Amino acid sequence: MKLELALAIALVLAVGSWTQEFFPKEAHALNWGKFSGFWYIIAIATDIQGFLPTKDKRKLGASVVKVHRMGQLRVVIAFSRSQRCQSWEVTLRKNKKKPVFRNTLKGVKAFHVLSTDYSYGLIYLRLGHAGISHKSLLLLNRQNVSSFLSLREFLDTSEILQLSKQAVILPKDASCAHTILP
Ligand SMILES: *[C@@H]1O[C@H](CO)[C@@H](O)[C@H](O)[C@H]1NC(C)=O
Repeated sequence: MKLELALAIALVLAVGSWTQEFFPKEAHALNWGKFSGFWYIIAIATDIQGFLPTKDKRKLGASVVKVHRMGQLRVVIAFSRSQRCQSWEVTLRKNKKKPVFRNTLKGVKAFHVLSTDYSYGLIYLRLGHAGISHKSLLLLNRQNVSSFLSLREFLDTSEILQLSKQAVILPKDASCAHTILP
């Protein structure tokens, strides 16, 4: 009985610190000026069916993040799909209560930077409308390669988000990514 209680308490404590650790330095603590600019998308894990093209069509993605106005971000994403390289642009607004950027009209429910040292970034993106919600995890890097540690963090986080089966490291072909070079 005593052992069970101790285990239960340990579990509660672990989950508590896990959630804190999981959404650590969000929008307030982040230096968005430093975070802005061009990023390669090195790896992706997404539950959007059919978003990733077949293996032979996969390429590095890219994102350009710009601080637009106070509390606004302009985000461009380029990604290789089955037919061609596609890009999307959206303006996100900071939520007043939560440290999250979003544009629910455009289907972006949340853009979280889970962790970054400004040379790499781990982004949790929630897309969808109303009751539908998709989750994606993106590993960004300023360079076309990523360190072992950041890849490790990407894989661990995709496991936490139950996306590990969908985690894909993209081939180092920058032809799509460079279409949005500033
Ligand atoms: C990766 O970037 C380096 C330096 O920017 C470049 O020399 C190299 O060709 C790139 N590799 C690929 C596969 O694009």
